[in-house]
Amino acid sequence: MKPVALIGFMGSGKSSIGKALAALIPGVQVIDLDDRIEEKEGRPIPQIFSEQGEAAFREMERAALEDLLNNEKGFYILSLGGGTPTTPACREMITSRTDCFYLRASIDTLVENLTIDGTQNRPMLSGTESLRTKIENLMAARASIYESTAHHIIDIDGDTFRESAMKILALTGKSA
Ligand code: S3P
Repeated sequence: MKPVALIGFMGSGKSSIGKALAALIPGVQVIDLDDRIEEKEGRPIPQIFSEQGEAAFREMERAALEDLLNNEKGFYILSLGGGTPTTPACREMITSRTDCFYLRASIDTLVENLTIDGTQNRPMLSGTESLRTKIENLMAARASIYESTAHHIIDIDGDTFRESAMKILALTGKSA
């Protein structure tokens, strides 16, 4: 069985919904791609961006995804980064080697979640424009990528993490 991969914009709940889904499936592991990159690099993502820039980070992300898909055994849940599917090689791996769910959120929900979470650890949201403008601009470039990469779309607005996880579970063929 292919791993379940969660994609979506920053603040759409990939990590939290991944954990809620793992809680519904006994013994399943949840792997966060950003955590893997930070462990391998020994430094946080904002530091990677400030020292080497986005292109270098995207290559680390691609290599980490490939490594993980080649080496992790059994069924697991994979929380990807918000920008992972923007790299064509990642998109290809996600589509062919995972069962992918796009956690789709409205701009209002993303503004709300990212206002609560804070943006200090998210270099893609740095800059002087308002948070809403930054989200709108990035989403304009990404929405169609998320939709065409995923096998399933889950609208998360108004749902708890557990409710979203239950919707995913129902589509995986696994039972709680
Ligand atoms: C990014 C999202 C982040 C992280 C990096 C780049 C993006 O992950 O991979 O800061 O380009 O959207 P989260 O979506 O988990 O915040």
